[in-house]
Amino acid sequence: MNINEAISGRRSIREYTTQAVDEQLIQRLINAAIQAPSAVNQQPWTFTVIRDQGVLDRISRGAKAHMLATMPAGTQSEHFHSVLNDADFQIFYQAPVLILISGSSQGQWMVEDCALAAENLMLAAYAEGLGSCWIGFAQRFLDTPEGKSLLGLPAEWLPVAPIILGHPKSVPAPVQHNPAQIRWIG
Ligand SMILES: Cc1cc2nc3c(=O)[nH]c(=O)nc-3n(C[C@H](O)[C@H](O)[C@H](O)COP(=O)(O)O)c2cc1C
Repeated sequence: MNINEAISGRRSIREYTTQAVDEQLIQRLINAAIQAPSAVNQQPWTFTVIRDQGVLDRISRGAKAHMLATMPAGTQSEHFHSVLNDADFQIFYQAPVLILISGSSQGQWMVEDCALAAENLMLAAYAEGLGSCWIGFAQRFLDTPEGKSLLGLPAEWLPVAPIILGHPKSVPAPVQHNPAQIRWIG
């Protein structure tokens, strides 16, 4: 698959089969992630691979409660409230794997670096026939002492990109992309 096919074909996948993801495949995806550029080549990322569904359920419950308690009122909050109040909704869509990319050193551009690694990982997953989705719902909770203790993350690490992975059960239609707003200067 060429890079343009990967960039335009990747979708956020929210329905997975129960098939496990091969460990060597996970390693290949992490290897793709770490090829990303990083400021001053600091490579401030660490990868936590979670396959324990009990842990994922606990994070999901904690993250939903945390979001409901802290979410500012405003756009989409009504939709989010009803989703987050649904006891049957698991924020990870029962995916077999969550890879959390965290910033683990005091770089000034840690968030940007980890996000670039995340995009590499998602594109590589698509090229390998896997689905992925960034789960922003988990982010803030994972940065609390309670969230960190569930994964044994050191207090100084910053969870940036929780990415679920698995074999897609269904693939959604492409989303609409707004035309780019371009200002040419010169
Ligand atoms: C920072 C970030 C946070 C996101 N958080 C969630 C999330 O919590 N749950 C979810 O289902 N999708 C989440 N998504 C996926 C977006 O909804 C998705 O990327 C967007 O609708 C575009 O669809 P596509 O990825 O298929 O192109 C997130 C994406 C990003 C980049």
